[in-house]
Amino acid sequence: MIPATPPGPGPGARTRGPDPGSENDAMPKPPLLSSPDLERSSVVANNTMNRERGLTGVNSYARELGIDLLAHLAGRPAPAWLDLCSGEGRALREAAASLPAGAVLTAVDLVGPLVPRPVQPAPEEITASVSSWTPIRTYDLITCVHGLHYVGDQLGLLARAASWLTEDGLLAAHFDPDSIRRADGATAAKAAVSALRASGFAYSSRHHRLTLRGRRAVSLPFRYLGADPAAGPNYTGQPAVGSHYTAL
Ligand SMILES: C[S@@+](CC[C@H](N)C(=O)[O-])C[C@H]1O[C@@H](n2cnc3c(N)ncnc32)[C@H](O)[C@@H]1O
Repeated sequence: MIPATPPGPGPGARTRGPDPGSENDAMPKPPLLSSPDLERSSVVANNTMNRERGLTGVNSYARELGIDLLAHLAGRPAPAWLDLCSGEGRALREAAASLPAGAVLTAVDLVGPLVPRPVQPAPEEITASVSSWTPIRTYDLITCVHGLHYVGDQLGLLARAASWLTEDGLLAAHFDPDSIRRADGATAAKAAVSALRASGFAYSSRHHRLTLRGRRAVSLPFRYLGADPAAGPNYTGQPAVGSHYTAL
């Protein structure tokens, strides 16, 4: 089921009208930011974010994604894992010790790891925006753990990432449909989830998890307009970004 209630307003958040679950409710237009401007905003540069999740345990990718990531990579001679919005990159580093020497581990984050911790095989740690970065290879596993909440063109990133998977690769990401908005601020949650499902993604509204198995070309019927950094807290309780689109 798609959540019908948007996240509660945070400091500076605007009221979105009496019936935010409707696809047609008219609301004031928020000022929309380009990706570079969004990436300089306080919502993205929020230093209270949890950037320290490890591979397993209480504060972990296994718990947040509900997936045994090493089991997915097992049996591959040179498994490749791409972690988008990787924070400190702890999950990749902890996985390194259990993976073959030929494993490829790629972490991409706007800020990058703040604390260097050498491991083998050494992850490739790229400081870049996932909104513009593109890999030069495909991956058996692509994760984005609580990272899309801070990305402007979330749907564009998901479509691009679908093409970065190997034939039997797995993409797993947290996704809040309520963050997908029309030009006037009305929700596009249902349309976004429908389009993602039609393209092969599975979505669990209970856990806010999107998954996709196997590389494919994805074209979603949305044109990105810009991001609202004042959308307020999302289901995680942290301030998140609103991503605005027109229908194609
Ligand atoms: C809530 S943290 C999650 C970090 C990590 N996945 C974890 O669970 O420990 C979100 C991360 O997204 C990163 N981020 C936000 N916008 C980004 C962008 N456009 N490109 C790359 N990373 C971004 C932030 O720097 C932050 O490290």
